[in-house]
Amino acid sequence: MSAIHTVAVLGAGTMGHGIAQICAMAGCDVRLFDVDEKAASSGAERVRANLDKGMARGKVTEEERDSALARISIATVIADAVHGVDLVIEAAPELVELKAKIFAEVDGAAPDHAILASNTSSLSIGEIAGAVSDASRFVGMHFFNPVHIMKLVEVVWGPETSDETRDAAVAFALRLGKQPIVVRDAPGFASSRLGIVLGMEAIRMVEQGVASPEDIDKAMELGYRHPMGPLRLTDLVGLDIRLGIAEYLHATLQSDAFEPPALLRSMVAEGRLGKKSGRGFYDWTE
Ligand SMILES: NC(=O)c1ccc[n+]([C@@H]2O[C@H](COP(=O)([O-])OP(=O)(O)OC[C@H]3O[C@@H](n4cnc5c(N)ncnc54)[C@H](O)[C@@H]3O)[C@@H](O)[C@H]2O)c1
Repeated sequence: MSAIHTVAVLGAGTMGHGIAQICAMAGCDVRLFDVDEKAASSGAERVRANLDKGMARGKVTEEERDSALARISIATVIADAVHGVDLVIEAAPELVELKAKIFAEVDGAAPDHAILASNTSSLSIGEIAGAVSDASRFVGMHFFNPVHIMKLVEVVWGPETSDETRDAAVAFALRLGKQPIVVRDAPGFASSRLGIVLGMEAIRMVEQGVASPEDIDKAMELGYRHPMGPLRLTDLVGLDIRLGIAEYLHATLQSDAFEPPALLRSMVAEGRLGKKSGRGFYDWTE
């Protein structure tokens, strides 16, 4: 597989701008595309703001900032974005039909050697890969938010992903300064599958009055050295988002461990969604 010099990032939101940033910092030319032109330019602005912050903290030099910014260009047409690239990373909303539609368009316009990657956090890589003519070049590259800080990348290996594609994705993640793990294309991959079990059980414990949310979180923080307890994490991610993932994993893996507790459903129904709504297991209004 040839070296990766040019990368197209499709979707310039929370994840896409961060992926563009770290690819540019690693020396790649990056084409940033979004259906919403404003989102593409605000994605590029967010990269500048991150790098400015990095400079203020002494982590990024002025030259590194300027050369990274100079490597990112905005594309307004998807075919232009992927023309001649070595790698495509899609970071569009979490809808399988939308991702399949994007890759069907990419398929005819990207070079035959290009690796095609999705940053999906839960969808089946095999299903999305059904949209392209050569699924052996398709792989999951699941980055974490904020992309320029979080070290983990889950490299998700679909049923038809070739060993060469998987290895190239691992090598590229290493080049980005990340720590890749290799996971089979199974619901929830490795991170969500474990994280959701812990989260759902913690909520069941609140429901059963086992301990307060603060003390349940402390059990994991102080007893198991988790940087943050499962209930505070649920508040940060959003109770509605976690409910959606739990429902999906419960349906696909058919294990009671993923069954969303009634307390979670009622909190979501009441609009207690965590930090974004001001209240979840904690009060975020102060
Ligand atoms: N936010 C997270 O914490 C997180 C973490 C890991 C993975 N993910 C995954 O990353 C992906 C993107 O999530 P996000 O949080 O960055 O979403 P986001 O809503 O912040 O950004 C998505 C962007 O995609 C654009 N878009 C919509 N349709 C498009 C199309 N047809 N072509 C190109 N761009 C299009 C939107 O305009 C938007 O700017 C999802 O699959 C999500 O599951 C998110």
